[in-house]
Amino acid sequence: MKPLSSQAVQEDPAALIRDQVVPHVRAVSPYVPGDQPSGGGWVKLNTNELPYPCSPRVGPAIAAEVVRLPKYPDPASRPLRAAIARHHAVGADQVIVGNGSDDILNLLVRVFSPEGHGTWMTFPGYSLYPTLVAIRGSRIHQVPFAEDMRLPIEALVSADPALLFLTTPNAPTGVGFPNEEIRALLEGTRGIVVADEAYADFANENAIALLAECPRLVITRTFSKSFGLAGLRVGYALAHPEVIGYLDRVRDSYNVNRLSQAGALVALEDTAYYADVVARVKSTRDRFAHSLRERGWFTYPSATNFVFTRPATPAGAMGAGVARSLFEHLRNDRILVRYFPSHPFTEAFLRISIGTDEDMAVVENSIQKWIPPAE
Ligand SMILES: Cc1ncc(COP(=O)(O)O)c(C=O)c1O
Repeated sequence: MKPLSSQAVQEDPAALIRDQVVPHVRAVSPYVPGDQPSGGGWVKLNTNELPYPCSPRVGPAIAAEVVRLPKYPDPASRPLRAAIARHHAVGADQVIVGNGSDDILNLLVRVFSPEGHGTWMTFPGYSLYPTLVAIRGSRIHQVPFAEDMRLPIEALVSADPALLFLTTPNAPTGVGFPNEEIRALLEGTRGIVVADEAYADFANENAIALLAECPRLVITRTFSKSFGLAGLRVGYALAHPEVIGYLDRVRDSYNVNRLSQAGALVALEDTAYYADVVARVKSTRDRFAHSLRERGWFTYPSATNFVFTRPATPAGAMGAGVARSLFEHLRNDRILVRYFPSHPFTEAFLRISIGTDEDMAVVENSIQKWIPPAE
């Protein structure tokens, strides 16, 4: 390789580095997380976090682990895997733990995403999947939902994905899919089906019972939402032991740190605490969704801790301009929600995470003061 003169480096170091980057990484569009504002005073309803503290057992468990920080953590997070297995009544060999479920999704792409064609997702869905696939030099294909958000089983069966990501309950719409539909999907396809159940604790149904019926089903879960531990970064997958074995082959050796393993373990055991906070979120959600519908705003039925709603002006106008106007109005009132303007399916909607009753009252008061754009 030709050594570059120091003059060339000084002139354009960015070009120098860019030339060394593998071409498909140069083309990757990074995942854009929701804003995490640093100052206080925000009502933060943009990343679907729990509005309540995590279990009071978590702090002491983490503190007790600090003396052990000079030592590496359990590389396989074994006590946590065993606790998760007990929690879901599956075998310990059916569980893998990761640095957030994002880590697990990445492992799934490493193991099961074929080169070139073969990885699919339903759209809209979690927007990290395309980035993970692009990082490996492939492209994800999308099967779109119709507005009614019924699972497009026929289209998925004819796509015959090697690897399919299904966000269930769906994000950003919040809509849950019945197990009969997921079963029909599994029966019609031959590849790995990932049910990303990040929000399943807020739903009335989940796909865990289907694991015993189909070794190609992988369920991913997270401690970031219903357990109020987004900052700890712990997620996991439930799957057939064969699947877990391959995911274990490609994970980082110490992919979950000592503090996170300790905190997640005690959180999982505090079932009474979490039953209470999840029930509170669900009742706030149902009240808030009802009040949006009372305004005449179409709002998908939510099986999650957020709602996807289409704001309308008093004269009934809707669309991207109306949604953006409300998004900006709320932001000016220091209320953060999520707006996805880049696709016709989502551009007229806002996704609003469910906070406390007080948070949602602040949102409703702010909406009351919104002056919608003139027609
Ligand atoms: C559908 C879905 N899956 C996975 C994740 C990632 O969760 P984690 O914090 O466990 O990486 C999110 C986070 O917003 C999500 O919405």
